[in-house]
Amino acid sequence: MGKNFFKTIITINEVDSTMDFSKKILTKVEPPFIVLADIQKKGRGQHGREWSSKKGGLWLTNVFKITNGIGLSTFFAIPIMRALRKYISDVQVKWPNDIFVSRKKLGGILVEIREDFAFVGIGLNVQNEIPNEIKDTAISLLDICKIGKRDLFNEIINQEEGLLPIFLKEGFKPFKEEYQNNLILLNKDIWIQTDTLINGKVIGVSDNGELLLKCGSEVITIINGTVKSF
Ligand code: BTN
Repeated sequence: MGKNFFKTIITINEVDSTMDFSKKILTKVEPPFIVLADIQKKGRGQHGREWSSKKGGLWLTNVFKITNGIGLSTFFAIPIMRALRKYISDVQVKWPNDIFVSRKKLGGILVEIREDFAFVGIGLNVQNEIPNEIKDTAISLLDICKIGKRDLFNEIINQEEGLLPIFLKEGFKPFKEEYQNNLILLNKDIWIQTDTLINGKVIGVSDNGELLLKCGSEVITIINGTVKSF
């Protein structure tokens, strides 16, 4: 393991979603592999939301074998943040794995586990325009500086190949401190939607990447949830 972790990189022009395409080819291509698309016609985000995936953005799915997926979705923010930092400084993560630049969402990560395989989708607005209806909350690197899409892709893969073997062996814990240092929510009073709507102050994340929320004198561990306001 280590460098050259991914055996194959499949580049395609247009696809419905790199997530579904990766699952379809799993019987034919040996993991670990990556699928990279120029355009997605039916890109999807977390919670079944639509993910606008026009030409110029980075839309990819990483496929690899996994035995324990705990902390995987929080971990994946680390190689992406490290790669982006080669070019820009103001990069943060909103729990669990939204990538923020200048307090707006630059991209996101979608983790799906099927049998022994992880499908980790990454979507980053690089040279694509942001649709008008999400301009208040989303940002593209196009608005900040000119970064070559291929250069950024290579840097992300480079970071993933260095860090993923550590995650697969040791889990999220070795990355916890770096994650917390870049957590946009740290020390903030937030509202989060779980089974119920909860309010509290973010004090960090656990060794497994769960969000730790202080509510009065209690500390609550959040495994799944959507941050509503921060
Ligand atoms: C989010 O909601 O923040 C996650 C967005 C994930 C988008 C990526 S783009 C590549 C891959 N294919 C998809 O259909 N979605 C993910």
